[in-house]
Amino acid sequence: MDKIVIEGGSRLEGSVKINGAKNAALPIMAACLLLNGPSRIKGIPNIVDIRTLLEILENLGGKVNRLNGGTLEIIFRDGENEDNYTAPYELVRKMRASICVLGPLLSKRRKAKVSYPGGCVIGERPIDLHIKGLKALGAQIETNEGYINASADNLKGTVISLKGKYGSTVLGTCNVMSAAVLAEGTTIIEDAACEPEVQDLANFLNKAGAKISGVGESRLTIEGVHELHGVEYEIIPDRIEAGTFMIAGAITRGNILLQNVIAEHLTAVIDKLREIGVEINTDSNTARIKVNNLYHPVDITTMPYPGMPTDMQAQFMALLCTIEGKSIITEKIFPDRFIHAAELRRMGADITVEGTCAIIRGAPSLSGTHVMVSDLRAGAGLVLTGLVANGTTHVHRIYHLDRGYEKFEERLSSLGAIIKRMPE
Ligand code: EPU
Repeated sequence: MDKIVIEGGSRLEGSVKINGAKNAALPIMAACLLLNGPSRIKGIPNIVDIRTLLEILENLGGKVNRLNGGTLEIIFRDGENEDNYTAPYELVRKMRASICVLGPLLSKRRKAKVSYPGGCVIGERPIDLHIKGLKALGAQIETNEGYINASADNLKGTVISLKGKYGSTVLGTCNVMSAAVLAEGTTIIEDAACEPEVQDLANFLNKAGAKISGVGESRLTIEGVHELHGVEYEIIPDRIEAGTFMIAGAITRGNILLQNVIAEHLTAVIDKLREIGVEINTDSNTARIKVNNLYHPVDITTMPYPGMPTDMQAQFMALLCTIEGKSIITEKIFPDRFIHAAELRRMGADITVEGTCAIIRGAPSLSGTHVMVSDLRAGAGLVLTGLVANGTTHVHRIYHLDRGYEKFEERLSSLGAIIKRMPE
């Protein structure tokens, strides 16, 4: 196992290219199960979660060719592997997002047996809305011995609401939309998630022959078609990776240029950074982050898109820990997603968690120590804090980071951070 070791205090300067979005790539790769013939998908990041899903797809009979420069060819053909419909525990347990094969498998192979993904450290991760949506399309679903067993002779279009206690569901919308594209008749998904990653899946499916309208809105209308064909497609840039590098620039009071960014996907993040006092200039596909020493504390509430993403909460917490004054973060998507607060406290941060709120009293200096990563974004927050802490920070359990950030430490190092990966 590796750790990341950081000497704090370097100001980041230079430019960095943002990769394709993990959370768009995963459901799009799973949707290849629905297609007849090869698809070439560009901009796939080389990270552990992608490799896990590829293993699942290969296990389901898909052929995968890794081409140059982050392009994958994924081939499924109609009529092949029809009796192969299981995503086993050994693979699903590595990544909760494996649930995104449920909708495509059920639609294409009429049966799906997917290991129940369970909870995780960011809190309870129910899938009741996925199941509700697929049942509404006509599936029979039961859970047995840790597996979701779904079957349907014929999926039929209907009207479905995916509204849950904390808003819609991203992967639930992906699953129901993927199942509905080949269903008989018209499906209307009310309260659909509007995240750019859901839009990217809809655009991919439409390019493959699906008829989805209302893309990016909370009502999706899907007219079922008989067949989908392979396509060439490029994944959108990862807005969370971009936001993470923006905060790397801001926290080190640096000056960095991000390439391959869709600023529109980051409106809430950019607005909040500007409120803090960070200077950000954007154009059609870049964003420049500049130093401004007069930072202000702010209040942040995570919300579904276009609100502040929960996946940026830990990184903002890191930044707010360095800004004098009181900031409050309210988590409205995953109410328990504050495990990183305890690790930040070990670095000298003053954070009180009360229910779904974290109250941060920024300190002018934090100190390096040993910290433990609990999940992907928490890990990003801890590395960002290490960039400005006095002395040396050792970030342990970085396998969580490797799930979602490609060569994170190498790219930070190329911007001037003193950071390296070492064996434990
Ligand atoms: N929820 C339900 N019932 C469901 C599904 C979700 O109540 O059936 C609740 C959840 O408990 C949560 C809220 O709805 O309170 C939103 O969860 P959602 O289903 O949208 O999350 P997800 O689809 O499982 C994706 C991302 C997460 C990201 C969330 C929220 C992927 C692979 N994962 O998860 O990304 O935090 O949306 O935006 O797309 C990450 O990349 O680090 C990550 C955790």
